[in-house]
Amino acid sequence: MPERLLSVLERAARWLAERGIGNARREAEWIFADTLGLSRLELYTRFDMPLDGEELARLRARVQRRGRREPLAYILGWQPFAGLQLMVTPAVLVPRPETEELVARALGELPRTARRALDVGTGSGAIALALKRARPELAVVATEISAEALAVARANGARLALDIDWRCCDLATAVAEPCDLVVANLPYIADDERALCDPELAYEPELALFPGGDGLGPIRRLLADAQRLLAPDGVLWLEHGFRQGAAVAAEAAAHGLRALPHRDAAGTWRYAEVRRA
Ligand SMILES: C[S@@+](CC[C@H](N)C(=O)[O-])C[C@H]1O[C@@H](n2cnc3c(N)ncnc32)[C@H](O)[C@@H]1O
Repeated sequence: MPERLLSVLERAARWLAERGIGNARREAEWIFADTLGLSRLELYTRFDMPLDGEELARLRARVQRRGRREPLAYILGWQPFAGLQLMVTPAVLVPRPETEELVARALGELPRTARRALDVGTGSGAIALALKRARPELAVVATEISAEALAVARANGARLALDIDWRCCDLATAVAEPCDLVVANLPYIADDERALCDPELAYEPELALFPGGDGLGPIRRLLADAQRLLAPDGVLWLEHGFRQGAAVAAEAAAHGLRALPHRDAAGTWRYAEVRRA
């Protein structure tokens, strides 16, 4: 008797759930659809489909990777972000829903007169590409310190035909032009929060997550440079850790800036909207 899709799928979902995967059934469906070259909708119409030995081996290998808590996005090689399909590799952070929200907030407040935007620490290019897609008239610059990450961002830009000025540098040191909008999701996890992190983070670049100490080093350095970077009515949107809002506001004030705090969809103080005081 050949193995049929639905029973193998159900077994895989149970196995993933036993290993602590939250949305085990949905993630199993993504793995099955992607591996078999189907959409998730097509998967639902082919539950009776027999699977051959080669298909079973490919499915088993990918399900086992997820069972070892490798992020689903690295297994599939892509991650949706703000309506874009982004290629991701272990050289870049998997873009998160809370960063989609950061982009939506920044775009919601952005005047029609804005001309130049900057994404600092672009990783896969997520923020820069989402800004450009939403507002094609913006000249978008994106910086990144990791050349490997920047290569992924560039490839995403080329595939999506979105024209970004990519620059490999420390924070915004290679940016001289004043910006109407600066958005940054820099690494911010404090060393004493490592133990609280999901096992998936062990697969993501250290450089993207853990800047050392209290986690605020890169954000502090960017705030110290903000007066130079921002156009007269410019705004800087920062994503930060759940305990860092007060420190970000104090640091902003020390540089003649005012930080307005915002919560994310889960109710956590997650963003700062920073302008000249
Ligand atoms: C938290 S990840 C965010 C990536 C992307 N912006 C996103 O939201 O998915 C932080 C990114 O900043 C980059 N980075 C870390 N330190 C940096 C620095 N000093 N200058 C520029 N980029 C930096 C990391 O390599 C990583 O790609």
